[in-house]
Amino acid sequence: MTIEEAIKLRHSVRRYLPKPLTTDQEKALQKKINDLNQQHHLHIQLIINEEEAFNCFMASYGKFHGVKNYIAIVAKKEKNMEERSGRAVAELVLYSQTLGLNTCIVGKTYKKTKEIIINSNETLVMLISLGYGENQGVSHPMKPISKIAPNYDSSPDWFKKGIDSVLLAPTALNLMNAVFMINEDGKVIAKSKIGVCRKENLGIMKYFFELGSKKKITT
Ligand SMILES: Cc1cc2nc3c(=O)[nH]c(=O)nc-3n(C[C@H](O)[C@H](O)[C@H](O)COP(=O)(O)O)c2cc1C
Repeated sequence: MTIEEAIKLRHSVRRYLPKPLTTDQEKALQKKINDLNQQHHLHIQLIINEEEAFNCFMASYGKFHGVKNYIAIVAKKEKNMEERSGRAVAELVLYSQTLGLNTCIVGKTYKKTKEIIINSNETLVMLISLGYGENQGVSHPMKPISKIAPNYDSSPDWFKKGIDSVLLAPTALNLMNAVFMINEDGKVIAKSKIGVCRKENLGIMKYFFELGSKKKITT
């Protein structure tokens, strides 16, 4: 499966089958995590066969079931750590999809466990539940394009492709709380709007934009 296919097929999945990950999947994920830790200066951890994090009232209220594996996004308390974490989770959920696995990014409905190593200057930003889903999830309700890209209709094709990709991105509460435009210098500007997890969502949305448009956001 290509990343482009993964963008279309990925949906949040909260119920999992009791089927373990293969050794090859674990190795591939660990390698991807090592690369992302270096690239984004994070302390992401793959946690296998641990049921406590999703064994709490909040998780069952959030409709999680059968979660035995997850990825913990731990970061040093530094500038931009939420946006960098957002970029990393976006890459991880799409990569997991290409490995045949389902995911859900989780900012609130979990419990911290002792398996997650959090050093004194670090914080746990979010988790990603991981495994074989009972189903493949469903498409989230689409936001009007004008809310995310007010000048979509008069924009070049590469920009439209970027926004088409953003529309499929996971965001907390499906808020899609960022706006994209091209400035006078022809550069893409992406700004977060008010709302929960706005910086994490911005990182995720920027990453999806770059995949769709095949252009880096440098501003
Ligand atoms: C930063 C972030 C935090 C999230 N936190 C939670 C959460 O605490 N509980 C939950 O059930 N889903 C959570 N989600 C999943 C979103 O609800 C989901 O991505 C959104 O509804 C869009 O659906 P989709 O992922 O199927 O496209 C979170 C997603 C993101 C990006």
